[in-house]
Amino acid sequence: MELVPEVIQFASPKVMAARIADVIEAELSRSDQSSIALSGGSTPAALYQALSERPCNWPDVTGILVDERWVPPTDKGSNEAFVQHTLKQAAAANMSLQGMWRADSTPDNAAQTLSDEVAGIASPLDVVVLGMGSDGHTASWFPYADGLDVALSHEAPDVVAIKAHASNITGDYLDRLTLSLRKIQEARRVFLLLSGVEKMRTFEASLDDGPVEEMPVRAILRTRPDLWVCWSP
Ligand code: 6PG
Repeated sequence: MELVPEVIQFASPKVMAARIADVIEAELSRSDQSSIALSGGSTPAALYQALSERPCNWPDVTGILVDERWVPPTDKGSNEAFVQHTLKQAAAANMSLQGMWRADSTPDNAAQTLSDEVAGIASPLDVVVLGMGSDGHTASWFPYADGLDVALSHEAPDVVAIKAHASNITGDYLDRLTLSLRKIQEARRVFLLLSGVEKMRTFEASLDDGPVEEMPVRAILRTRPDLWVCWSP
């Protein structure tokens, strides 16, 4: 029988953020050097703000991005800027945060460079924080995207360039960089953060036995049934 991740339901985003921050704080304190991969979007904001106030040994914590839209940190859609403004503050101000944007490069060339850099930072990652779109994507694994097959392959490099098909979820951000399935599934702890009824409906649909390409979040749900699926209203 296939294992299915349990959903941990919380009373509010604030309660969910505090509980996950407790666990991540303990994970990041396990060793002298620790690493965390951080999704952008919006759902993780409460978690990142809660984490930023925790007394982790932040100078020894290396943060990388789970994925990035191919835009500079000055762009309103930048995941690096989102993480900078929500997590890399307060007690966490002196954590290191590696972005994925490279002004003098292309997504494909940047993916190759970043793969080497990320592999050198943390293998395996200690913690990964994922979100999920209402289309069933996670990271930047968008349904039927160009490069999705590479991102989900067992031989994938750490970082892959993706070109999503335009949708109301992608907006104008079609060129993406993303950690591969292999890199995420190797992590010690993986958290998937969901908020609201629509995301719960999407999550429930992702548990069907449809193709991974249709709802790529299925790739990590099926390879890491132990991940924490955390939901709040
Ligand atoms: C991004 C994010 C992405 C995010 C989902 C959910 O670049 O958009 O990293 O993978 O986790 O799109 O986003 P929300 O949390 O905003 O719903």
